[in-house]
Amino acid sequence: MTSSTRILIDTDPGIDDAMAIFFALASPELEVVGLTTVFGNAHTDLCTINALRLLDIAGRPDIPVAQGASRPLAMNYRGPVAFVHGEDGQGDVFLPPSTRQVEPVHAAQFIIDTVMAAPEDITIVLLGPFTNMALAMLMRPDLTSFVKQIVVMGGAAFTSGNASPAAEANILNDPEAADIVFGADCPIVMAGLDVTHSITMTNDDLARFGKIPGPRAAHLAAIVPYYSGFYRDRNHVDGIYVHDSTTISYLLAPHLFTWTELPIRVDTGHSVCRGKTLPALHDSDEEGPWQGRRPVRILTSVDARGVIELEFDHLSR
Ligand code: BDR
Ligand code: CA
Repeated sequence: MTSSTRILIDTDPGIDDAMAIFFALASPELEVVGLTTVFGNAHTDLCTINALRLLDIAGRPDIPVAQGASRPLAMNYRGPVAFVHGEDGQGDVFLPPSTRQVEPVHAAQFIIDTVMAAPEDITIVLLGPFTNMALAMLMRPDLTSFVKQIVVMGGAAFTSGNASPAAEANILNDPEAADIVFGADCPIVMAGLDVTHSITMTNDDLARFGKIPGPRAAHLAAIVPYYSGFYRDRNHVDGIYVHDSTTISYLLAPHLFTWTELPIRVDTGHSVCRGKTLPALHDSDEEGPWQGRRPVRILTSVDARGVIELEFDHLSR
């Protein structure tokens, strides 16, 4: 990887979004050129407030934040998941408001402007529902031919979902948007449940945040107990699954992953399979609904301890 991978992060912070954002900001190999916000773990307004607060904590007032969609493309917002991320989206620590302002443009326009200002140089990282990226693609149909790559946390290709038996949460929150984005004309990497459910940060791991100096780690130490409480109660997991940070781990250390490359469609029907990410498994499938779609790099296995230590190593810097 070169020393200056420029990334734009679209996010719904969110406890694991905070981990991923801080991980990226702690990585000299990455340059975060902006944050865009979307509904998902909380309403968009609160996700925007949290994005600004996180940049305050990280001491990065130079990074712009643009607010995006407050509802999916073709349905109502399914609503906040306070039982996962807290009423404030940040583990109920209720941070003070930021004094910073958001950019005076919609996130979709911000994505377009950022990409077109640096054609083939910007990597887009999607950590929430894909609505803003889909809107940008609808507004500018040739946009993704100018995008370096898109790395998404979302989907479940060969495994079951977490928001329904079929669907992962970011996809179920806007299946129509996800189906548009998986049709992008640029390389796409999918860090979905196929791989993130293999990465468990144990409670012993999480306790390490409390020993790392600095405000980023202090915030993570304060918020992760809420998240691990959800996993304990719902999934009987000792610790947390590492979802959003896996996009950053992939960018820093793709050699820690294996993958398969297949085109993807998303079930946008209104059956029990709504939001399922369906890879084309047979050559003949590519003549059907998957026709003309580029293969998506679907991460399927990982050196889990390797990526966990990578994250702690970077966050300790
Ligand atoms: C995804 O859903 C959200 O709750 C998390 O922040 C993550 O982006 C995991 O399914
Ligand atoms: Ca997220």
